[in-house]
Amino acid sequence: MNAPSLNAVLRQHAEHQYAEELAELARQDDKPKPPNWQLSPWAVKTYLLGGKLANGFEVSAKYIGSARLIEIAVATLATDRALLLYGVPGTAKSWVSEHLSAAICGNSTLLIQGTAGTDESALRYGWNYARLLAEGPSEHALVASPMLKAMRDGKLARLEEMTRVPSEVQDTLITLLSEKTLPIPELGIEVQAQRGFNVIATANNRDKGVNEMSSALMRRFNTVILPTPDSFDEEVAIVSRRVAELGQALALPAEKPALEEVRRVVAIFRELRNGVTEDGKTKLKSPSGSLSTAEAISVIGHGLAVAGYYSDGVLRAGDIAASITGAIVKDPVQDKVVWLEYLKTVAKERDGWKDLYRACMDVV
Ligand SMILES: Nc1ncnc2c1ncn2[C@@H]1O[C@H](COP(=O)(O)OP(=O)(O)OP(=O)(O)O)[C@@H](O)[C@H]1O
Ligand SMILES: [Mg+2]
Repeated sequence: MNAPSLNAVLRQHAEHQYAEELAELARQDDKPKPPNWQLSPWAVKTYLLGGKLANGFEVSAKYIGSARLIEIAVATLATDRALLLYGVPGTAKSWVSEHLSAAICGNSTLLIQGTAGTDESALRYGWNYARLLAEGPSEHALVASPMLKAMRDGKLARLEEMTRVPSEVQDTLITLLSEKTLPIPELGIEVQAQRGFNVIATANNRDKGVNEMSSALMRRFNTVILPTPDSFDEEVAIVSRRVAELGQALALPAEKPALEEVRRVVAIFRELRNGVTEDGKTKLKSPSGSLSTAEAISVIGHGLAVAGYYSDGVLRAGDIAASITGAIVKDPVQDKVVWLEYLKTVAKERDGWKDLYRACMDVV
């Protein structure tokens, strides 16, 4: 089978999508690197936060937010402690984890998705049963988990949604992280982690079905809390940038997102999330959903698809009304009350928001 062309792939891995930036950073990078890292901590930080290199090459910003947080995250990975990115949904935990591993070890695919059904073999190893029966336990019959591969090759393993994994399975990580070795008793061998190995876990504290982490495990991690964007302008910048990138990847026929619509969606999300209008004058009730930046990105993305395929491609209030309402009204009774109250007390009265008010009232 021929490998699919990279351009046909719906979503490229960070190390492919930003291969040019990573290569240029590697060329310019003369700072000291931790063992087995592809880039120095300085270059990794520049890759994440963006910047101009000495030769004028522009590196795009992947994460918009506090530089200090990124420094702490990168520095953690150079120590023997693992990194836990923690926070409410949609604060770019998975996104930062992917870009950190792409920049540090050139591979963001050693990924374990934590679910209630994740068992020890997902963190250690499993067996190819046909081979196991035919040959008995051998290295050929062993199916290495992404964690085992990362240890063997000195790379970063990513564990997504760690707190969804049952607590007793999570604890498998304790010895692995402190001894840096994974015994395989069936073969009488152990795999010792090579330099460069570490783990980036993500977890959020909001979703249902979350299992507490034991304090023994917690101690092996350095926790970095990713916050929701500080300011309105920062959040607008994140949404505009990501929507433009996604629109390109999905080849949407719409025009670039109108900044005005992005500003309105972000304003609504922030006000409802914070329970107060931006001017601080009106108290609001918050709906049950998280109204994250990630959801604002999908609302605008969806609006662009509607505008592009069903009208002239210009994003207007009518194109986003349905998806804003869908993002806010997760509980058909309580959230609907909250949303209607917002529309009637805030949106209706605001200058230049009549079109949005009417479009939303039509679909609630
Ligand atoms: N500060 C930010 N800088 C850049 N992009 C951001 C930022 N905050 C959110 N995003 C965007 O939000 C989207 C969702 O982020 P991501 O999936 O990483 O969230 P998450 O924290 O892992 O959420 P969950 O807890 O639901 O898994 C990404 O496309 C990311 O680009
Ligand atoms: Mg995530």
